[in-house]
Amino acid sequence: MFSYFIPLLIISALYDDSAAKTSWDCEPKSISAYSTNENLLKVDVRMERVGRAGFFFTGTVFWNIDMDESVMVQLELYRSTTGAESDYKLTPMSIPRQTFIEYINTYYRDMVIKNLGECSDLPRYEDQYVPPWPKKNYTLTRCTINGVGMPEVLLAGFYKIKVNISHPEVNQEVKAIVKVTPKMF
Ligand SMILES: *[C@@H]1O[C@H](CO)[C@@H](O)[C@H](O)[C@H]1NC(C)=O
Ligand SMILES: *[C@@H]1O[C@H](CO)[C@@H](O)[C@H](O)[C@H]1NC(C)=O
Repeated sequence: MFSYFIPLLIISALYDDSAAKTSWDCEPKSISAYSTNENLLKVDVRMERVGRAGFFFTGTVFWNIDMDESVMVQLELYRSTTGAESDYKLTPMSIPRQTFIEYINTYYRDMVIKNLGECSDLPRYEDQYVPPWPKKNYTLTRCTINGVGMPEVLLAGFYKIKVNISHPEVNQEVKAIVKVTPKMF
């Protein structure tokens, strides 16, 4: 997820690329999305709880814009020890504003698709992005977060993730709050 973890990713890839070696668990608290033009981009994801601690994400991502250099993405990650709104501080683990195509070749390939690839029909690319990115209503069915491509160590607490996908004609924001706890062995 974060450039300075790439050496770690390479090392862990030598062992087992499919199992994340994280020392933390995460429990989603909420997820919401807002689009300024739902005819162009619409993320509609909800959380399903299973038992006491389990969860899934299910929903759709309606993508109706051309993939080109005008599509930008940015991710801000805030952390709070208590979960109180006033407590959230921006962390250095954010993704600076960049073109979506750059993002496909890095974070999307190394993290997003390794977590959501099996439960969705989101586009997959062998190595680098090769057009097209089809315009489509993508489906996510009972997705979980396996931690692949994410830091091995994370401070416990509440994390707020704010993703902004922007394009000259539409802005899509997705906000999620997750609680991170040390993994129980
Ligand atoms: C995308 O698919 C979902 C589930 O089939 C449907 O409810 C939704 O209306 C579709 N969205 C668009 C924009 O077609
Ligand atoms: C998303 O990014 C665009 C372009 O930088 C900006 O105009 C917009 O205010 C951002 N929206 C949010 C909700 O951060």
